[in-house]
Amino acid sequence: MAEFKLPKNSRVQPGKRFPATPGAKAVREFRVYRWNPDDGANPRLDTYEVDLASCGPMVLDALIKIKNEIDPTLTFRRSCREGICGSCAMNIDGTNTLACTKAIEDCGKGDVEIYPLPHMPVVKDLVPDLTHFYAQYASIKPWLRTQSAAPPKERLQSKADRAHLDGLYECILCACCSTSCPSYWWNGDRYLGPAILLQAYRWIIDSRDEDTGARLDDLEDPFKLYRCHTIMNCARTCPKGLNPAKAIAEIKKMMVERRA
Ligand code: SF4
Ligand code: SF4
Ligand code: FES
Repeated sequence: MAEFKLPKNSRVQPGKRFPATPGAKAVREFRVYRWNPDDGANPRLDTYEVDLASCGPMVLDALIKIKNEIDPTLTFRRSCREGICGSCAMNIDGTNTLACTKAIEDCGKGDVEIYPLPHMPVVKDLVPDLTHFYAQYASIKPWLRTQSAAPPKERLQSKADRAHLDGLYECILCACCSTSCPSYWWNGDRYLGPAILLQAYRWIIDSRDEDTGARLDDLEDPFKLYRCHTIMNCARTCPKGLNPAKAIAEIKKMMVERRA
């Protein structure tokens, strides 16, 4: 039987414990993945005892409290703290989600375990390297492509056509879906993954775009599109409630229809 093990220098070791301050009233433990590319050490799980009596309700509040009051070396991304920028995406309590919209009380019983988004190179601690993900996004040319002369004011769209973008325009490119997709884990070098394909469909279906044929031609490839096997992890994990698998299915349908 095949045996899968992480290489020795990637195995996560037990880390340090940071006890709560004396008199803490409502302590909850956060076990957080730590890795520093500069110290040559294995990754480790540090345990922080956080007093929830003096902490905001979200996992991001706990991380900010840890960084401000307990351990300033902890590194993570965040900006908007309201589910709009996508930068605080991480794996919390076993699910890829946004730290700023994940309530601590909605995490399962016991410790709250926090890791970076899975199957991505790590820059430091909870910060994944999204260079390849953004390059894939750029590859679909995510802007309105037109050949006709520009109208004097703007390219109009009917309400009905605009409605086709619902469920697509809300994507914040957090990468939670792509990093939960087994096909993307194994073929992410060539498979575009659910986030980028949802974005591709957002432009394919936009009534103002005039490059639909070229966009479909570009996706007609055994890897870019057809590595989706409808496993549906993407739709289950999306913190914005979107369904990338459905967008992918729509693209596949358009491919079939144009061949007919
Ligand atoms: S579809 Fe959802 S999970 Fe995927 S990148 Fe967009 S917002 Fe994030
Ligand atoms: S439905 Fe497709 S894109 Fe979504 S997780 Fe499954 S294989 Fe990946
Ligand atoms: S901080 Fe912007 S989405 Fe969480």
